[in-house]
Amino acid sequence: MKITLQICFLLILHLFFHISSSQFLPSNTTGYACNLSQTASSCQTYAFFTAMGPNQLDLASIGDLFSVSRPMIAKPSNITSLTSPLVPNQSLFIPLTCTCNSVNTTTNISYAKINYTIKGGDTFYLVSTTLFNNLTTYQSVELVNPTLVPINLTIGQDVIFPIFCKCPTKTQLQNQINYLISYVFQPSDDISSIASRFGSTTESIVEVNGNRTIRPTETVFVPVSKLPELTQPAPINVSNSQRTTERTSAVIGLGVGLGVCGLVLILMGCFLAYRESVWKKRVGRKKDDGESKKNEAGVSLMADVSDCLDKYKVFRVEELSEATDGFDDRWVIQGSVFKGYIHGKPYAIKKMKWNAYEELKILQKVNHGNLVMLEGFCIDSEDASCYLVYEYLENGSLYTRLHESNVDMLNWRTRLGIAVDVANGLQYIHEHTRPRVVHKDVKSNNILLDTNMRAKIANFGLAKSGCNAITMHIVGTQGYIAPEYLSDGIVSTKMDVFSFGVVLLELISGREAVNIDGKALWVEVHENFNGKEDKHIHNLKGFMDDVLLKESCSIDSVMNVMSIAIACLHRDPSKRPSMVDIVYALCKSDDLFFDISQDGLSPRQVLAR
Ligand SMILES: *[C@@H]1O[C@H](CO)[C@@H](O)[C@H](O)[C@H]1NC(C)=O
Ligand SMILES: *[C@@H]1O[C@H](CO)[C@@H](O)[C@H](O)[C@H]1NC(C)=O
Ligand SMILES: *[C@@H]1O[C@H](CO)[C@@H](O)[C@H](O)[C@H]1NC(C)=O
Ligand SMILES: *[C@@H]1O[C@H](CO)[C@@H](O)[C@H](O)[C@H]1NC(C)=O
Ligand SMILES: *[C@@H]1O[C@H](CO)[C@@H](O)[C@H](O)[C@H]1NC(C)=O
Ligand SMILES: *[C@@H]1O[C@H](CO)[C@@H](O)[C@H](O)[C@H]1NC(C)=O
Ligand SMILES: *[C@@H]1O[C@H](CO)[C@@H](O)[C@H](O)[C@H]1NC(C)=O
Ligand SMILES: *[C@@H]1O[C@H](CO)[C@@H](O)[C@H](O)[C@H]1NC(C)=O
Ligand SMILES: *[C@@H]1O[C@H](CO)[C@@H](O)[C@H](O)[C@H]1NC(C)=O
Ligand SMILES: *[C@@H]1O[C@H](CO)[C@@H](O)[C@H](O)[C@H]1NC(C)=O
Ligand SMILES: *[C@@H]1O[C@H](CO)[C@@H](O)[C@H](O)[C@H]1NC(C)=O
Repeated sequence: MKITLQICFLLILHLFFHISSSQFLPSNTTGYACNLSQTASSCQTYAFFTAMGPNQLDLASIGDLFSVSRPMIAKPSNITSLTSPLVPNQSLFIPLTCTCNSVNTTTNISYAKINYTIKGGDTFYLVSTTLFNNLTTYQSVELVNPTLVPINLTIGQDVIFPIFCKCPTKTQLQNQINYLISYVFQPSDDISSIASRFGSTTESIVEVNGNRTIRPTETVFVPVSKLPELTQPAPINVSNSQRTTERTSAVIGLGVGLGVCGLVLILMGCFLAYRESVWKKRVGRKKDDGESKKNEAGVSLMADVSDCLDKYKVFRVEELSEATDGFDDRWVIQGSVFKGYIHGKPYAIKKMKWNAYEELKILQKVNHGNLVMLEGFCIDSEDASCYLVYEYLENGSLYTRLHESNVDMLNWRTRLGIAVDVANGLQYIHEHTRPRVVHKDVKSNNILLDTNMRAKIANFGLAKSGCNAITMHIVGTQGYIAPEYLSDGIVSTKMDVFSFGVVLLELISGREAVNIDGKALWVEVHENFNGKEDKHIHNLKGFMDDVLLKESCSIDSVMNVMSIAIACLHRDPSKRPSMVDIVYALCKSDDLFFDISQDGLSPRQVLAR
């Protein structure tokens, strides 16, 4: 019974997808078999990729799609300029980490796992055929994501796209075949044209792929001893003339990139530019406009940060491993962040995959007391990992402090101080960096507290996705994400303002951003604080943290912060205050507090100004 149902379901799925699929399905639709007794379990390889779609005509968006940095594509592809736009149908080599994965008891298939976040209108078929240019198939996507229902995808859901690849066997390696390039067979191709294009031979291609008719859209593995050099069009010069003419609100991401063959620490810069008017109109965005600005910023960025390498201490892997007892679970702070002592000093050590490099190096460009400081880094080429080493903050995250610890509840003065600190940090990244930086993941988890309860903003890990992400990836945390970003993917400093408003609500109410029923705190506030202002004070008493009520702190001060929070949470981003306004308004709240408490100025109050 159960099996019949499953078969019916599969049939329906197939019918659904076949409507739009061509009759030329590759014969190895679910992937290409691998055998661990013949090949390594993983290898570095490349896929030949043709930049086609209108959203793919720059290295940054292709890098984002495949989770690699621009230099990692530029180098093997013989491209010298990271910022020049690509021409339609430009050829690229995309680096892949190919692994052999077991799908059931009898079969293992090899692919590179690429994370993709679903956006509106996506289906497995469309993403495979249009974005990944048939380097995978929807059947294979279904196979490696068995828990997902292909006809019921939700926006923001993470899906693994298995990019077909193969690792050379031991015999092939002995015969100087170092890579099997993944190439999608085109209607105009035949084996001998592919052989001459990649500097391979017809015989060796047949040997790897079998002596059979290869159909268009099927992946062919081209054995080569070294990557062929691609001929690229001359880079298009980017005009710098209008760089200073317009104020743009830009999103920039700086990433640590680890080159394929060694230590290449490079800055990934990318951004989206929008005029203020875009917020008002939302529709009818002019793509070309944004594109040209993107390039300008990339150019200036590369110039600004070329000296980043020598600012930091380079740690050895052994040092970090020793500091954390070999990255033992006991030392985990959160996720892949470990606490470790090096020469007696505690550090927070964040471990990343070599192709993740997403953690942003924004911190090396900005330097502010309310941003967590990066102390150094480490690259482990053997394990293909990269580590960022940060200052360690004793009092953990604001989230833990507010929602998970029963001891030592934060009083209103401390909470206000934390709000001012975070506002100062955000104001700094929004106003004093060019192009502007948007954090994109402001939440109590990413606000850390030092011994003096001063707050610092951490985790710029998502800011990178901001680069190309206008429609590609929805990132962020439920309960903090601004509605316009969720619906339209619009990135601006005002989305950080929104998230900051949610943090203020947490500070006032002591409650989590999303309650156990999945309802966002800000939605509740929209419902309860929409009427006349004079009712707000009454509602506020019901909303406030009991700890604060008992403390009998100044209700005016709390109400002032509540009004700021409500303003931050305005549905229309253009109506939200800027961080500059917020810092000013919060300091006023601080004054209100001290007018009443009358116990003099604390050191932190002085610092907050
Ligand atoms: C593709 O599938 C055919 C059988 O359908 C098999 O003979 C061939 O070896 C497969 N190719 C690869 C590269 O796995
Ligand atoms: C894997 O390779 C070994 C030795 O080369 C062979 O004995 C075995 O049958 C292969 N397994 C599969 C599933 O092809
Ligand atoms: C398939 O993968 C499993 C685990 O990954 C491994 O134990 C097994 O030997 C593999 N089989 C083949 C034929 O490679
Ligand atoms: C790019 O390639 C596609 C298909 O191969 C073709 O239809 C299109 O005309 C090409 N575009 C350019 C600008 O060469
Ligand atoms: C395992 O998966 C492969 C590829 O999808 C399929 O051809 C094969 O029939 C499956 N075997 C079993 C026992 O399910
Ligand atoms: C891909 O997504 C999964 C699940 O969301 C996550 O655990 C994994 O770390 C991601 N991998 C990369 C390389 O980002
Ligand atoms: C991928 O294959 C489908 C048919 O299977 C075809 O319609 C589509 O144009 C192909 N995409 C590319 C980029 O070649
Ligand atoms: C689709 O997914 C949502 C949440 O992921 C679930 O609530 C809903 O029941 C699903 N619908 C179907 C038809 O499976
Ligand atoms: C492929 O098979 C055809 C006939 O089936 C044969 O004539 C040809 O020589 C074979 N090619 C190779 C390289 O084995
Ligand atoms: C690779 O790029 C360089 C510089 O752009 C160029 O001189 C060279 O001809 C290119 N190689 C090939 C094979 O086109
Ligand atoms: C591009 O700009 C550089 C200097 O900015 C100049 O030397 C070069 O000739 C320009 N190239 C083209 C094709 O305009």
